[in-house]
Amino acid sequence: MAKSDVKTSLLDNMIGVGDSVLLEPLTEDTFLENLKKRFDHSEIYTYIGSVVISVNPYRPLSIYTPTKVEEYRNRNFYELSPHIYALADEAYRSLRDQDKDQCILITGESGAGKTEASKLVMSYIAAVCGKGAEVNQVKEQLLQSNPVLEAFGNAKTVRNDNSSRFGKYMDIEFDFKGDPLGGVISNYLLEKSRVVKQPRGERNFHIFYQLLSGGSEDLLRQLKLEKGFNHYNYLGLDSAEVNGIDDAANFRTVKNAMQIVGFMDDELESVLEVVAAVLKLGNIDFKPESRVNGVDESRIKDKNELKEICELLGQDQAVLERAFSFRTVEAKQEKVSTTLNVAQAYYARDALAKNLYNRLFTWLVNRINESIKAQTKVRKKVMGVLDIYGFEIFENNSFEQFIINYCNEKLQQIFIELTLKEEQEEYIKEGIEWTHIEYFNNTIICELIENNINGILAMLDEECLRPGTVTDETFLEKLNQVCAVHERFESRMSKSSRFLNDTTLPHNCFRIQHYAGKVMYHVEGFVDKNNDLLYRDLSQAMWKTNHVLVKSLFPEGNPAKMSLKRPPTAGSQFRASVATLMKNLLTKNPNYIRCIKPNDQKAPHIFTEGLVRHQISYLGLMENVRVRRAGYAFKQLYEPCLERYKMLCSQTWPHWRQGARDGVEVLLTELQIPSEEYSYGRSKIFIRNPRTLFELEDQRKRRLEDLATLIQKIYRGWKCRTNFLLMKKSQIIISAWSKRHFQRKKYLRLKMVTLRIQSYIRGWKARKLLRELKHQKRCEQSATTIAAYWRGTQVRREYRKFFRANAGRKIYEFTIQRIMQKYFVDLKNKMPSMSPTEKTWPARPYLFLDSTHTELKRIFHLWRCKKYRDQFTDQKRATFEEKLEASELFKDKKALYTNSVQQPFQGDYLEISKNPKYQKLNGAVEEKILLADVVNKINRANGKGAPRIFLLTKSNFIIADQKSGQIKSTIPVMDITSISVSKQTDGLFAIHLKEGSTAAAKGDFLFTSDRLIEIITKLYRTIFLKTNQKIAVEINNEFLVQFNQDKVCVKFIQGTQKNGNLPACKRKNNRLLEVTVP
Ligand SMILES: Nc1ncnc2c1ncn2[C@@H]1O[C@H](COP(=O)(O)OP(=O)(O)OP(=O)(O)O)[C@@H](O)[C@H]1O
Ligand SMILES: [Mg+2]
Repeated sequence: MAKSDVKTSLLDNMIGVGDSVLLEPLTEDTFLENLKKRFDHSEIYTYIGSVVISVNPYRPLSIYTPTKVEEYRNRNFYELSPHIYALADEAYRSLRDQDKDQCILITGESGAGKTEASKLVMSYIAAVCGKGAEVNQVKEQLLQSNPVLEAFGNAKTVRNDNSSRFGKYMDIEFDFKGDPLGGVISNYLLEKSRVVKQPRGERNFHIFYQLLSGGSEDLLRQLKLEKGFNHYNYLGLDSAEVNGIDDAANFRTVKNAMQIVGFMDDELESVLEVVAAVLKLGNIDFKPESRVNGVDESRIKDKNELKEICELLGQDQAVLERAFSFRTVEAKQEKVSTTLNVAQAYYARDALAKNLYNRLFTWLVNRINESIKAQTKVRKKVMGVLDIYGFEIFENNSFEQFIINYCNEKLQQIFIELTLKEEQEEYIKEGIEWTHIEYFNNTIICELIENNINGILAMLDEECLRPGTVTDETFLEKLNQVCAVHERFESRMSKSSRFLNDTTLPHNCFRIQHYAGKVMYHVEGFVDKNNDLLYRDLSQAMWKTNHVLVKSLFPEGNPAKMSLKRPPTAGSQFRASVATLMKNLLTKNPNYIRCIKPNDQKAPHIFTEGLVRHQISYLGLMENVRVRRAGYAFKQLYEPCLERYKMLCSQTWPHWRQGARDGVEVLLTELQIPSEEYSYGRSKIFIRNPRTLFELEDQRKRRLEDLATLIQKIYRGWKCRTNFLLMKKSQIIISAWSKRHFQRKKYLRLKMVTLRIQSYIRGWKARKLLRELKHQKRCEQSATTIAAYWRGTQVRREYRKFFRANAGRKIYEFTIQRIMQKYFVDLKNKMPSMSPTEKTWPARPYLFLDSTHTELKRIFHLWRCKKYRDQFTDQKRATFEEKLEASELFKDKKALYTNSVQQPFQGDYLEISKNPKYQKLNGAVEEKILLADVVNKINRANGKGAPRIFLLTKSNFIIADQKSGQIKSTIPVMDITSISVSKQTDGLFAIHLKEGSTAAAKGDFLFTSDRLIEIITKLYRTIFLKTNQKIAVEINNEFLVQFNQDKVCVKFIQGTQKNGNLPACKRKNNRLLEVTVP
């Protein structure tokens, strides 16, 4: 499918023949006819193999749209109908994919469409290469450099309204991916003479017209310019306006482009100032002025223009004025200043204008280069685009045309070298059968111009450097001498006088038979233009300016850097730069675009056969076709060829062990390519038809896809397998580890259990053993003990006769006896006193005597008390018995008791029997008086006390008056029922009487006495003796007494001490008698 596409698309709907190689029959006429036919059908492009022929349509065509770009993108060269895009795509892909630096050589005469073609190539590449913000900016800058350079370097000529007046070679740099990185522009010899003078029907450089038409009023005022081209001498008037060129619009485009490229506002301003100054320089006029000594001098007519120029350039007016009037020549360190006449002044003016403009142009190129420079140092791929001024023949051809045509001659030479000569030579070298094709080799013309010894440029240089008077005529003379014999050189005055009769050749001219035709050059101005001299006074004046840009344009004006050495001539400079260019081009893979101009009218649809035929002839297109037809479309060394296509054949893939040539042979045979399609050279394979190559390429592409799939498949398989193996390995490791872990755990458990069982068994065994051993030992011990006893028995039995049988007991008893003896003796010596109150007792000497010792102490004490008691009389005993009774009654019950302990119970304190006072009383009492004392009897009614004698006998107690001894009451003790006292220290006591008894008629008695304890004790004892009954002694702080019929409560309360221990009684009411006790 693709194959048929390839084959048919170029041929399908084809007008004429797309590729001239296919022309049948091949003659110049058929070739021309084919071009014309295609041209008439708007097919301006035709191939000769890989060379593109482009016929200028002189009208816009709709074949440069983005759709077209996409159509041609990544397509093989012959796949679609011929187009400049196909060539651009081929070159770009070859650069990107095969890493081959490319150059695109665009040739053709002036107006043939070279510049347009170069722009189409650039825009196509910009459209198809990488994208992105940075890349887009680079692209934009590269593309926008074109309008800037065209404005300053292009002009309308009779041949072309937009003729390039400089040569341009641009290297576009790409990175490894094919994205543009930047570029470098080289410019070649600007036709600067155009600045001051233009041939009839031509214009100055576009920028002047653009500035005047498009500059705003403000800008023009600022630049001191006036609108209207007619104000300026340097602007040719006859064709200032050009149809189809909108200078004003172009001015805006240029300004915009300069901004995109990266020009600063102040730089743009400076550039326009220089342009304006150049324009105004043309308006400076000089008038002659004769001096006294007869030397010609000149004066500036109108100094206003000069003043404005100086203002624009930041120049001192006097300095510039002087530079226009004098010329300083330095010779042998002497400075000679000569005045300039009017002609010389004009010459100086024009030289300055030309130089200023030329240098400005070079500065612009450098400035653009600075902006578009690639920002990286990595290795770059390069695509060079060469758009140089085309071959031109004017009415009046001067130095510039000579140079331009020389350059074209060199390009033609390169074309011949690469396409015709080299190719044919290669066929012969490779041993391919080949019939030589005649072609014109222009080396001879190049030699005529550039030969170092007798070339025209060398002659011109020699003439310029020669001392003495040098004029264009002397140069022509020299040429006549040296070159006259050259077959391509013609001149009226040549030595051989061959052309003396040729009246078409004026005297001041020479003619060269260029590859593209004969061109007659006027020698006038050759020396001057070659010298390219600017008076030093002018360059120094320019350097003195304070206009930064202008100053930088004239570095040689700096006196510090002044050199007496002549700068290289324009001719030699150009020759050197062309040589470098050629060298550069030869390192790259060439792609040719050959432009053809269809008519001289610059009009569409006109195809002037004669004109085109001429171009076909001098461009060598017929030879080109013939070589292509006879030759092979493609050739390649065997090794790379095999390397590239070996995958298409099973025998050569993946390795071919034998020679590369054999490999290629096997390969082509297996692919069944017809043998007439290729030839085997010595080192290369030659493929006749490009289509065969494309077929190979297609197959290779498909195979590569298969291989990629295979690689992918194998890689994926490998990856999966590796992954699987890794997982398997990991799984084994993991399971091994986990098995190990579980086994280890199991083993440890087993070990532990075993150990435990083992230890139990061992323990059990050990215990058993221990038991046995213990038993054995006990047996041994028992045996030993028995034996010992037995032996002891035996020994005792044996030795009994030698000891008393109970010596031990005796000794023991004796010892005890001795100890007891000592104990008793010591005790006797340490005996305590006999007082029953004595508490001391000697310390116990032996522990075993403890109980004995205590017992002895008790016995001794009892004995001591008995002894003590034995001493008592009956009376004393009775006293002690009373004391004992008192203690039983009151101890720890009544507080008063403690005071009574020390007091002996005397009984009769009144000595009644002895005291005469109580004689009567004594006589009245029959019984023995047991107690006689004075007590206070408490009045029952008011509680007041009255002293009474209290007597106690065995049967009664008697109350008598203290003074008179008169008995007041006698109460039988049997009538007493109980006695009440308080718990406190008071001496109040109540004697309760039997109800109903005579004594109780008035009620119970209340007494107070200090000797309460003794009185009550004695009463108690007496009653016991009498009745054998123990009466109750109530000890309480509150008790009831019976007064007459009343039961009165006696209540003890705490009070202050008033009269010793005697309580103060107070009858409160019927029921209460309050006793205040201290
Ligand atoms: N492909 C094209 N399509 C339309 N017009 C074209 C084309 N090529 C050239 N032209 C027209 O031809 C004119 C001249 O073309 P161009 O400036 O490219 O010529 P040139 O070969 O560069 O000439 P010179 O050597 O003088 O610079 C252009 O201004 C344009 O009008
Ligand atoms: Mg051009």
